Amino acid sequence: AIRPTVLCGGMGSRLWPMSRVEQPKQFQSVNGRGGATFFQETVQRHTGKEFGDPIVVTNARQTAIVKRQLRDIQKTGQIIGEPMGRNTGPAVLAAALYSLRDDRDAKLLVLPSDHIISGDINTIITAMLPAAEAGQIITFGVIPTYAETGYGYITDGGAYDHFSGLHRVLRFVEKPPAEVALKMLEDGQSYWASGISMLRADLLVEEFAKFDPQTLAAVSDALAHASEDQLGASVLEENAFGKAANEPTERLIFERSEHISLAPLPGIDWNDVGAWNSVHSISDQKENGNVTFGDVVTHDTANSLIRSEDRLVAVIGLDDVIVVDTPDALLLANRERSQDVKLVVEQLKKNK
Ligand code: GDD
Ligand code: MG
Repeated sequence: AIRPTVLCGGMGSRLWPMSRVEQPKQFQSVNGRGGATFFQETVQRHTGKEFGDPIVVTNARQTAIVKRQLRDIQKTGQIIGEPMGRNTGPAVLAAALYSLRDDRDAKLLVLPSDHIISGDINTIITAMLPAAEAGQIITFGVIPTYAETGYGYITDGGAYDHFSGLHRVLRFVEKPPAEVALKMLEDGQSYWASGISMLRADLLVEEFAKFDPQTLAAVSDALAHASEDQLGASVLEENAFGKAANEPTERLIFERSEHISLAPLPGIDWNDVGAWNSVHSISDQKENGNVTFGDVVTHDTANSLIRSEDRLVAVIGLDDVIVVDTPDALLLANRERSQDVKLVVEQLKKNK
């Protein structure tokens, strides 16, 4: 069986002030009205006979939320808690080492938990299983529509003859500068890295041994000395885990490995709801282009996103604004500057 490996230790800081340290975006409801959360949708997307129980890797402070949200959708899974965030590389490696304990042939389907996806992605995923078993590290690519600098890009190196639907990777570039992103958009040969990948756990460990043995030693050590919290989650040992590289899997392995390949995701509607402008663009807009959540009144206001949690918010004569009101913080921003919310959060952390 394929083991869904759900990564949900990120901060979602560009969606501040909705996304907070204690309640980041992935644990909030997708529709903002109490429906399934991003995390729950991710887990529920990959069920069925091809898939085993998920492994969830998250911050040790969030194991209780994960446990509760799994229980609410009648799912069980293994939870691995990280004493601190070291980005996705060490998180995926911890899941790989863990899965190998009871299955030498474990295959992981690595899943970010901060996306909205529609379409039948599982058919494409399961079609790639033979290639994954044969030792390919498969990254799933989305057809790009604009020069986003917040994504990784995968440049197509041509189709394989022996694996249908699978392509070689010419280059893997994580979060390129604007000029490079534009070139990749224009070359027509590059895909957005969806962040979803499928790989054999033993092969990932081998690649870490080759490219970053120090991180492999650190994560192995952290797992060997993990403790169990009251909820049954394995919490990695702090000192050891702190010695792992603080880098995404893309940088540590995908940019370097010879086994990396690309599976395009045609016909799949994919959205990384990373910032407020993308919440605006994927939501149902009124005829003036406004998207509102909660108790909101507008007058002469267009193309804006206005979200209120528990009081009335009125906006008059403003266009292209983001207004997000929560009980203890208010964000007012130009919609075009949505990515910069991250900078404010960094500043807040420094001031603390
Ligand atoms: N367990 C754990 N620990 N999870 C983490 C950590 C960590 O330290 N850091 C991030 N995550 C989780 C996030 O919660 C999210 O679900 C996923 O890993 C991806 O992290 P992001 O921080 O959202 O990455 P990104 O969006 O900047 O970039 C990645 O996704 C893009 C597509 O959305 C990369 O894979 C890009 O190449 C890709 O294009
Ligand atoms: Mg993301």
